[in-house]
Amino acid sequence: MTHDTSALGPSTRAIHAGTRIDPQTGATVEPIYQCSVYAQTRPGEFINDYGRSMSANFKPLEVALAAVEEADHAVVVSSGVGAMTCLLGLLKSGDRLVMPIDVYGGTYRLFKEYFENFGIEIVQVDMTDLAAVEAAMTANARMLYIETPTNPLLVIYDLRALADIAKKHNATSVVDNTFASPYFQKPLNHGIDVVLHSCSKYLGGHSDIVGGSLMTNDLDTRTALDHARKSFGVHADPFTMFLLRRSIKTLPVRMERHQSNAMAVAQYLESHKLVTKVIYPGLPSHPQHELAKKQMSGFAGMMSVYFDLPFEPTKTLISSFDVFTLAESLGAVESLVEHPSSMTHAKIPADVREKHGLTDGLVRFSIGIEDVDDIIADLDRALAKVAK
Ligand SMILES: Cc1ncc(COP(=O)(O)O)c(C=O)c1O
Repeated sequence: MTHDTSALGPSTRAIHAGTRIDPQTGATVEPIYQCSVYAQTRPGEFINDYGRSMSANFKPLEVALAAVEEADHAVVVSSGVGAMTCLLGLLKSGDRLVMPIDVYGGTYRLFKEYFENFGIEIVQVDMTDLAAVEAAMTANARMLYIETPTNPLLVIYDLRALADIAKKHNATSVVDNTFASPYFQKPLNHGIDVVLHSCSKYLGGHSDIVGGSLMTNDLDTRTALDHARKSFGVHADPFTMFLLRRSIKTLPVRMERHQSNAMAVAQYLESHKLVTKVIYPGLPSHPQHELAKKQMSGFAGMMSVYFDLPFEPTKTLISSFDVFTLAESLGAVESLVEHPSSMTHAKIPADVREKHGLTDGLVRFSIGIEDVDDIIADLDRALAKVAK
């Protein structure tokens, strides 16, 4: 469907945006253009030029990515971290980037180990404290980088309030929207300038691709991000783009199922005697449940749980599942479990981990779309094993 899809519902958009019937073959699915270079009619006259800067698979996928995020533009890149790297296209040496204290570890590593070495000042603040954010926005603050819900503690930051602070200080606001997915949260509609996704998670949804994207309503920003993709060489490959376009078609149905399964699992775990606390934005017990309801249309499938267990039994618990796979990623059709203090966040010193609530009893679940009774039975079985 090549015409404007903005008036259509989210599922229709996810399936049809950017798709077309191939006039030569009648094919209903966009092919994989396994092609690095494109012909020019005269020097500088071309439809596409080179796979790093303007591949034939970019356009249909970017129309679909923009449609699901309700954005004017999308730029598809090699990974979520590749998308973050492109943000350098909006910054220069001497600029300040303000980010939360609890960003995803790979974000922290890229910004602190690399951006900072090239003269970008990285400042971390508690973004639940809007006065602290305001104070961090000094004259050289050019970017307010947000992640909400956060990984792994699912803290919710106020998108509208933070977008307003960034605007007041002439800074670009960026939101990593990976945990919510574009189906449940649309930061651009709350005044945010740029949305970033790891498409390796919910957008891809099947644990078979690594990809990323950036969405914006501003053409100049899109042009700068395009240029950064080409200059850094962080383009997506044709097969990944094909799989990603296919996955987007089922994003709405997958997200509804992730959420209904997650809610049932959260309620089950909240009543279990070995559980101290369940952190899931959809539960009324989540400290920012009201804010989550205000800015998200659903709560997706990520949750973190504090078990009343010492380190070794916690490790036994998460190694004892049949339905859950012990793995670090998230957002896939299959349920995944991981242990932040010994896996994703192991490199953070123990005292810092403890201070931020990343204790040995904390377990992160990515609830998949299997039959929910099987997921709960798996949890029940594994918990009974460690309770003995
Ligand atoms: C919230 C969040 N953002 C970004 C990324 C990075 O994405 P990628 O692995 O596609 O580079 C991750 C990866 O786990 C993530 O959890």
